[in-house]
Amino acid sequence: MPKPKLSKKVVLITGATGGIGAASAKLFSKHGARLILVDLKQDALDELAATLGPDLCAAVAADVSDPDSMMAAVNAGIERFKRIDAAFLNAGVEGEFKPLTDYSLDAYDHVMAVNVRGVFLGLKLIIPQLQKIGGGSIVITSSLGGLRGTAKISAYIASKHAVVGLMKSAALENAASNIRINTINPAPIATRMMDALEEGLAPGAADIVKRRMVKGVPMRRYGQPEEVARMAMFLLSDDASFITGNSYPIDGGMSAM
Ligand SMILES: NC(=O)c1ccc[n+]([C@@H]2O[C@H](COP(=O)([O-])OP(=O)(O)OC[C@H]3O[C@@H](n4cnc5c(N)ncnc54)[C@H](O)[C@@H]3O)[C@@H](O)[C@H]2O)c1
Repeated sequence: MPKPKLSKKVVLITGATGGIGAASAKLFSKHGARLILVDLKQDALDELAATLGPDLCAAVAADVSDPDSMMAAVNAGIERFKRIDAAFLNAGVEGEFKPLTDYSLDAYDHVMAVNVRGVFLGLKLIIPQLQKIGGGSIVITSSLGGLRGTAKISAYIASKHAVVGLMKSAALENAASNIRINTINPAPIATRMMDALEEGLAPGAADIVKRRMVKGVPMRRYGQPEEVARMAMFLLSDDASFITGNSYPIDGGMSAM
């Protein structure tokens, strides 16, 4: 086994039981991290924690868009591990698949609440913890859709652009305190979310959408959650010690097109 990349670091992960979140939790724990796992459902969190080793994990159900709930999650993590060294703000929802003119305001508000307010709250709560210990790293899961547009998912695209903006401001405010903040910008990755996107864009014909999507990727395949986890781990680790304020596509070449 090569040198562990996150030895003894305490890392908070939101959206921890989802495709990218769970793959990251597994990789980070293999690399020596202790984890504060945050997602909506306690039973799924407990199941994940059991596979990783409950001694190495705090599993805390919380809604990232709710300040009290997120504050309780951060406090539970600190009570358990005494510090937080890094955070992977990764929870997200896709919303509706409709032209903007048909998109419901409720769905727009929900996407913005989870994907933007959730990241804003995460930054607001985690940065002071990193200030206390003299530095740290935060990685936000944006999307290739945070750097370019896609039809029929306007709220999602807007939310993923918005977190790139939050990242840039927060990175500049905290760079001199040795706190690094970056986004990763994946697409398309084989998780529940891509299944939902395929079905949402063409109900009953997801396989056709998938074939079209794969054709549009220069590497001619979807990425795997583990491939995203490796980039997140690099940015969270000390290997990325001079990297802040930027966005990193993981997209099989799509952003070169
Ligand atoms: N799969 C892709 O192709 C892709 C591409 C670009 C970006 N992303 C982003 O990657 C991140 C992870 O998505 P994924 O692909 O693993 O999908 P996923 O649906 O498997 O995971 C998303 C996780 O977020 C959690 N979540 C949703 N709302 C929450 C809330 N209010 N509070 C706490 N947790 C909440 C869900 O329960 C789920 O576990 C998301 O931010 C997504 O937008 C995914």
